[in-house]
Amino acid sequence: MRITTPAPADRIDLDDVDLADPMLYTRGDAHLAWQTLRAERPVFWQRRRTGPGFWAVTRYADVRRVLRDHETFGSEHGTSITMIGVPDPGAGRMMQSTDPPRHRGLRGEIGRPLAPRAVGDRAETIRSLVRRCIEPARDGGVWDAAAAFTRMTGQIAARFMEFPDDDVDRLLSLSYATQAPLDPHYRLGSQQLTLRLAHHEIMSYFAERLRARPRSGLLAHLTGIEIDGRRLTHEELLLNCHSLIVAFVMTTAQTASTTMIALAGQGGGEGRWPPGTPMQEAVEEALRWASPATHFVRQARRDVELHGVKIKAGEPVTAWLASANRDPAVFARPYALDLGRSPNRHVAFGSGPHRCVGAPLARLVLATLFEELFAHIESFELAGDPEHLVSNEIGGIVGLPLRVRPRPGGPWA
Ligand code: HEM
Repeated sequence: MRITTPAPADRIDLDDVDLADPMLYTRGDAHLAWQTLRAERPVFWQRRRTGPGFWAVTRYADVRRVLRDHETFGSEHGTSITMIGVPDPGAGRMMQSTDPPRHRGLRGEIGRPLAPRAVGDRAETIRSLVRRCIEPARDGGVWDAAAAFTRMTGQIAARFMEFPDDDVDRLLSLSYATQAPLDPHYRLGSQQLTLRLAHHEIMSYFAERLRARPRSGLLAHLTGIEIDGRRLTHEELLLNCHSLIVAFVMTTAQTASTTMIALAGQGGGEGRWPPGTPMQEAVEEALRWASPATHFVRQARRDVELHGVKIKAGEPVTAWLASANRDPAVFARPYALDLGRSPNRHVAFGSGPHRCVGAPLARLVLATLFEELFAHIESFELAGDPEHLVSNEIGGIVGLPLRVRPRPGGPWA
């Protein structure tokens, strides 16, 4: 996604805004659209030429309200724009598409291998995969950091879900196809055909893995858990595997790539890690800055009024996290990447019952990646234009050609 820094007085004609159009995020100016919406139309009905319309909330406080108030805004009708008006096969069965109270049981059990301690036990594995990921940059040639970061997150998923490294590229392409079905790298036909094929292939892949009766790892864990006195059905297992692999690989790498572009911009073309930067704060700011999950969808479960606008039961409401994270009511200098920013109450991981269950893992991977990368390199420069992912769901980069300079006295000197 193109990250822009509109001036406070800049605005866009709201008749020209189409938040569902994936090209808004590659060639257009989504940040300008969100800035205008926050200021002028905090509850906006997005009309569409094709497909059903939806409400959009863009202010920090409203985004949090929609995501936290699950009694008014439910998740069981799909959480992405492509699912609006389509029955969600995951409703009540996949953690992300299930409302409390059942959601609590699902999350408590499914989330155990992703809890901070369980993730911490894998810190050394993660570090060795990070080192493997950055090694090809060493020879001084052009290094595609976006591809390397994405493959690394796929390899981490492979360790948790215990599938072979040889299958990583296939699962990455399929996962990206589910979130960016119009991107030329991932599309398999029309948007609908791409979505159908990718969902089907991912489910078939995990059906095959489950037939092998895994004895350890996340899949074995899923087959063993009991919720409300019963095991997950075969279909529930597949739906949750699907949701986990997509979530695993779509966002962490994008946070890193997007931050690298900002660092290059800050250094006038030569990106560096500012000396003395506190890592924990830096990771949180990278998350706020990149906000790779641009939005999530809810459906109103009852009539409700927001800023004087009546939302009717059954209508879809999109909560724009990436906009909330630039809200000047909450963040001073919202369009500046400030790696020491504190406090930083970003909503990149969402808010409320569905807030990201993979957050401890994402934070650990990002901290390890930044630590290792900048222990090895002193600086880097863009060796070409970044290529943006064509997606309205994931703010992403598919190509990031870099050339790095090893750190004098560092491991690559
Ligand atoms: C930078 C990285 C990440 C970001 C920005 C991110 C963002 C989010 C957000 C915003 C939600 C809330 C969805 C909603 O409200 O409907 C979410 C949920 C979720 N995330 Fe992440 N995520 C990241 C990494 C991960 C990773 C590494 C995993 C690993 C498995 C993961 C697994 C999940 C799952 C399973 C849910 C659903 C939780 C639930 O419904 O209770 N995420 N994520």
